[in-house]
Formats: sequence, structure tokens, C-alpha cells
Amino acid sequence: MSNSADKTQKFGPESLAVQAMGVIDPQTHAVVPPIHISTTFLRDPDNAYSSGFAYGRADNATVRELEAVLRMLEQGAGALAFGSGMSAALAVFLSLPRGARVLAPNVMYWALRRWLMTEASSYGLQVRFVNMEDLADVRTAASAGCDLIWVETPANPLWGVVDLAGVADIAHAAGAKLAVDSTCATPVLTQPLLLGADVVMHSASKYINGHSDVVAGVLVTRAQDALWERIEKMRATHGMLLGPFEAFLVMRGLRTIHLRVRAACTNALDLAHRLQAHPLITDVLYPGLDSHPGHAIAIRQMKGGFGGMISIRVRGGQAAALAAAAHVQLWKRATSLGGVESLLEHRASIEGAGTPCPDDLLRLSCGIEQVDDLYADLDTALRAGAGQAS
Ligand SMILES: Cc1ncc(COP(=O)(O)O)c(C=O)c1O
Repeated sequence: MSNSADKTQKFGPESLAVQAMGVIDPQTHAVVPPIHISTTFLRDPDNAYSSGFAYGRADNATVRELEAVLRMLEQGAGALAFGSGMSAALAVFLSLPRGARVLAPNVMYWALRRWLMTEASSYGLQVRFVNMEDLADVRTAASAGCDLIWVETPANPLWGVVDLAGVADIAHAAGAKLAVDSTCATPVLTQPLLLGADVVMHSASKYINGHSDVVAGVLVTRAQDALWERIEKMRATHGMLLGPFEAFLVMRGLRTIHLRVRAACTNALDLAHRLQAHPLITDVLYPGLDSHPGHAIAIRQMKGGFGGMISIRVRGGQAAALAAAAHVQLWKRATSLGGVESLLEHRASIEGAGTPCPDDLLRLSCGIEQVDDLYADLDTALRAGAGQAS
């Protein structure tokens, strides 16, 4: 590849993502570079590794190509791809020193919240949960001592919006780092590093890949600092590196991320407005609606859309919500989010006891199908479900 720093200055992120940074294979001039699968690399006669590669657990050339695109999209100083979003997030927590004090949101991706509640203490971490949407709450908690603030915005599954610049100021005043799970905001809509975050994390299984066929995770850093060095070591020694085939697929997905995310946002906003007026829905949770408590921050912080994720509360409680879910045809009843196909899930069922998620809530991951089809399918399912549940 020719000088990538020149390219990032000359062309916009959409052009660079579409061409995966314009990498051309130097040997064949292939426009789509080959997938590097070798686990081991020839030493030079003087015993050095002049290519920069030695063994496949620590590093891989295809993964590096993906990381270059991610670094560009988030405007960071370094990016690392992991075997899952969970492993990317855990690499941050496990890189903190024993005794580190962590503030985490009381509404966030449930599996990570469960790990923070049940496992983190055995690694020496002290975790406190706060309402990240309330800066006064965060400031009070941080002033008691804090090393890392973890934020998710918009946050699963209620889609609360966190003021990233506000929390970054609080974190830095307390001498802490700010890490942001930006999975649902995507780098198309929000760039947390530019708002003061130190590390941004994505489950690349979602919008980054966008086709529900790869499990992957990503971290991007604002600075090549001591925490980032520990994270790099953690990935190499614990074998958390993403595989080369998966890296290739994620890079292919990233070529269309701007188109996909914009289409999902357009569908979601349209559906949110229509669903607000639906007689069988008691509430629509979506940051793009005027009625959403985080709408003003979302307007400031999310550029070009409010994301593809909506939650609806179904009149008639859990039975009516489950009955509606049972009747969808175009929407697929499945966990996960961020793919081109629309998914719907009764979230309390998967999150289990202790979830902040109400039991009448269905989470909608709006895909890029025709919006009239998506609305009609939901409407039919809600009416069929209400008939069955009553
Ligand atoms: C917001 C968010 N963060 C993190 C994760 C974990 O990512 P993965 O499933 O890739 O491990 C998920 C997965 O659902 C998620 O939705």
C-alpha cells in the first residue's frame, strides 16, 4: 500500500471505507488483497524477522488491513481486532491493575453487565454502577475515586443516550480513562474519541460487519499510552486475535457501512414515528423521537441519524409481547442486531433475573428491507398477538 497517511488526509471516510483504504496487492495488483493465513514466518539468515511478522497468535497481515480501516473510521491512534466484542471489552478490564475502581452504567449490554457484577471482583476490580445519563450522578461517583469509566450509548435495550463529552471531562478530572461501547452508534454516526473518550469498543458482530455472519470485536485508542500497550500484550498472550478469514469478511462488510447504517437509520426513524401512533404500543424508545429524554444530546452527538435500534412496549404485558413476536414473518425472532436483516427479540427472556428491561418490551433491530413491509409485518403480528393474548 502506498502512504496511507496521505490517503486519510486526501479522501473522506466513505471513500476510504469503500476501498478498504485502497490496498492493492503489491505482487499481483489485485484490487481485493489476498487473505493471509500463515501461522508462521521465515526468519532472515541473520535470525531477524524483517517482515515484522513472527507467529499468528499475536498478529496477522489481513487483520492489520482491517485495523487500518477501523482506525481511520474512528480517527484513532491504533486499532485492534478481537475474536468477539466480549473479548475486546474484557481486554480493557483485564488490562487494569488489581484494585482499579470502575464506574459502569446501570443499563448496558447484559452479558458484560453480568460479568462486571459477578466476575470482575475476582480479578481485583471494584465496580460501581451509576446512571450515566445523569452527569451529576457520574460526577459524585467519580469524585470518590475512579480509574475507568465505561459507557454505552445508545445503551441496550432502553436506548438511553450518554453525553460523551460531559463524561470524558468528568473522567479526566478524576484522573480516569473513558471507554465507550459504541456498537449501536457505529463510527458513521458518532466518533467517541473526538469527543474525548480514550478507548472505543465495538461488537463488530453487529453494524461493523453488518451481515450476521461473523463474531468479532474491535478496540480503537486515542493515544498509544500505557493502557493500550497492556491491551496489546493481553490480546497477544491470551490469543484474542480475530482470525484472518473473519477479518476479511468484516473488511468486506465495512465497505458498505455508510450505506447500510444510513438506510437502517431512515427505516428506524420512519418506523418509530409510525409505531408511536399504534394503538397496541404503549411506548416507543428511540433517541430520534422528540419524546426521548436523550433526544437533545443525540442531536448534538449523533451525526446523520439516530441508529437502527428501537424498543417498543406492547399493550397487554409480557404475554402480548411474546404473542406478537410469535406472529412476525419478515422480522426474524432472533437475538443480536446490526445486520441488514431486521431482527426482533423479547429482551427480558434473554437477560433473565435482575434485568432493568421491562417484560413487555420487544427490541427491534431495523434492517434495510422496504420500510412499508417492515411496518405491515409488525402491525399484523401485533394485532394477531393481541387477539391471541386476550
Ligand atoms: C452493545 C453490545 N456490546 C457488546 C456486545 C458483545 O459482543 P459480541 O457478541 O461480539 O461478543 C454486544 C452483543 O450483543 C452488544 O450488543
